[in-house]
Amino acid sequence: MNNRNLISPMDFSKEELNEIFELAEKIISNPKEFSHICDGKILATLFYEPSTRTRFSFESAMMKLGGNVLGFSEPNSTSSAKGETLADTIKMVSIYSDIIAMRHPKEGSAKVASMYSNVPVINAGDGGHQHPTQTLTDLLTIKSQKGKLNGHKIGICGDLKNGRTVQSLISAMSRYEEIEFILISPKELVIPEYIREEILKRNKITFKEVERIEDVISELDILYMTRIQKERFFNEEEYLRLKDSYILDMEKMNKAKKDMIVMHPLPRVNEIATEVDSDKRAVYFKQAEYGMYVRMALIAKLLGVM
Ligand code: CP
Repeated sequence: MNNRNLISPMDFSKEELNEIFELAEKIISNPKEFSHICDGKILATLFYEPSTRTRFSFESAMMKLGGNVLGFSEPNSTSSAKGETLADTIKMVSIYSDIIAMRHPKEGSAKVASMYSNVPVINAGDGGHQHPTQTLTDLLTIKSQKGKLNGHKIGICGDLKNGRTVQSLISAMSRYEEIEFILISPKELVIPEYIREEILKRNKITFKEVERIEDVISELDILYMTRIQKERFFNEEEYLRLKDSYILDMEKMNKAKKDMIVMHPLPRVNEIATEVDSDKRAVYFKQAEYGMYVRMALIAKLLGVM
């Protein structure tokens, strides 16, 4: 994986993903052993869109490996505010750093960045398109919490049209055995046609599309909740009408299996009531922690230090 880019979760084979998960598990067991493997290396975090988890976990990951971090979370403080192109910014940053993590509102921007970079580029989210390191986080969470990646019935609920984490997760999970999806969304926010046709149908994955959580929650091994993506709506009235389409509360949780897990890429708005947080099946904060460890493993692999 040395010197590769990560633009889509499909850029890595299942075997390569497994290598990353195995390294993440070793780091979780013995973090001290890895605390200097990136001494002298620099991670650049270029965030053209807001973030809490992805940026901080990347930065924390690099620091815990002994490396340093530079970057921005406010693009107006950089020369892009003077009209500098993304290509020129990336050429510069790849002189100053050894690896780049970039989030940008435009679909395809991470791919463009990788074409102008001399160092590995990690897509930390490009518009409504892909969020591959969230998918690594999600897969490590499922593997750790359920003991395997094969053989799950997964409900994905919320804004399936605009949620980049959803599209990345379905693409990645479709490569595992005996996976079934139940896609739960309002009809205005159903999964994009290319995911239905080119990922689900082409790979002969069993799936159904429904509107109500209550009708299917008892069947699920994993419930993956997502936020209605306010920033992707052109019409505020439409957002206000749909924003509270789903609220997972204990009344609904009481209908679920005792070993179902609830995941969420976070941030949450209203879609999971805080009363669910103390249920042992709620793993979304643990999931964010796995995100830091899997990013440590990813950085180490792309820099070729492990
Ligand atoms: N899950 C995720 O991408 O969170 P942030 O937007 O806070 O980075």
